[in-house]
Amino acid sequence: MSEASVVAAAGLHPDCAYRAGRLCLDGVELAAVAAAHGTPCYVYSRANIAARWHAYDAAFGDRPHRVCYAVKANDNLAVIRLLGRFGAGFDIVSGGELARVLATGARAADVVFSGVGKSVAEIERALAAGVGCLNVESLDELERIAAAAVRLGVVARVAVRVNPDIDAGTHPYISTGLKENKFGVPIGNALALYRRIAADAALHAAGIACHIGSQLTSFAPVIDAVREVVGLAGALAEVGIALEHVDVGGGLGIHYRDEQPPPIGEFVRAVLQAVPEHYTVVMEPGRSLVGEAGVLLTRVEYVKDTPAKRFVIVDAAMNDLLRPTLYEAWHEVRPCAEPAADAETLPCDVVGPICETGDWLARGRELAVAPGDLLAVLGSGAYGFAMASNYNARPRPPEVLIEDGGARLVRARERVEDLMRNELDLLGDL
Ligand code: LLP
Repeated sequence: MSEASVVAAAGLHPDCAYRAGRLCLDGVELAAVAAAHGTPCYVYSRANIAARWHAYDAAFGDRPHRVCYAVKANDNLAVIRLLGRFGAGFDIVSGGELARVLATGARAADVVFSGVGKSVAEIERALAAGVGCLNVESLDELERIAAAAVRLGVVARVAVRVNPDIDAGTHPYISTGLKENKFGVPIGNALALYRRIAADAALHAAGIACHIGSQLTSFAPVIDAVREVVGLAGALAEVGIALEHVDVGGGLGIHYRDEQPPPIGEFVRAVLQAVPEHYTVVMEPGRSLVGEAGVLLTRVEYVKDTPAKRFVIVDAAMNDLLRPTLYEAWHEVRPCAEPAADAETLPCDVVGPICETGDWLARGRELAVAPGDLLAVLGSGAYGFAMASNYNARPRPPEVLIEDGGARLVRARERVEDLMRNELDLLGDL
């Protein structure tokens, strides 16, 4: 699929469609990917990521801006490098993410460091590398940053992340802008932090930040938050603290089931209208750049009929894709071989091999499947592999990037030996 045609389809699933009865991603047969790399396996569409990126970038026009990809959504090095090549900056939340971003050759100056619990070591590493901005979430953190900057002999560029106490209207686990959430500084306390910054030669007030939540299907709450933040930036300018940028966070949702999130361009334009032109606008999208670009391939091991239910037991599990059980999230499941129009479907739960009742990928679906069938779990590009674990000593799946009509392995399947590496030598004579 050309990048242009994906742009036209932005807001829908990527070109994950049947061709001659075979489910393909960007024209590449998913069954062939599974044959080459096994299952479970994450597969991402480069063209879809590119289209999403260009939708963001184009919408900003000539307004000064930086789109900082939220690496937590999918921290595969190939995805980071790709977005870096397109011109993205990066939003990180840990020293590990900083290392990943720098390993791809990105510039530290294009990084914003978010997060409520930065350690001294992480702050020092970020300052030594020269990150573009640390988004500060408390006075104590600011003091840590100031002390570290003095030790290292650098000036720390900071922004205060404000908690505007606005309901983002999303799942409570991923809502971050309410006063009862752990994030940010209450807006009423922000001025005091900026005065502290202005009084310290080791600190520079580069901007102001907010982020109210994820998987947002309406941008109205973001705009309300941005207005609050811009109002505060104006008040700061009046007392001589002139900020360069306004960081509006990420959060734009994607289409999993029946959500209708606004198109990227509409969202960006609404933000631009709410921010005066002399500020650089920083945005931190994660899910909306990579979420719809990915599928998780999994094979049916067993079909188990019980008096109560039919269970389709597959080889992917909650350790591979946690979102369904953690957030009761819906991911569409499609057989990779197109079922005949008259195939008899039966209601079933798609579950994994893990020893927990919560180990499910989809519940109450109508599917016609048999053991050995290959399934694709859609919308798995964001917070899929990134949240995978080794629970039940399960090696994490490989990751494959579809580009130019081919499938490129971008992360090898973990091996059981990898999981034991840090323990075997310590066993000694135990
Ligand atoms: N900026 C900050 C400060 C954030 O905390 C986040 C996400 C983002 C940007 C990116 O948000 P996005 O554009 O991806 O919505 N694991 C959850 C999502 C957690 C989001 C956490 N913060 C999920 O699977 O739905």
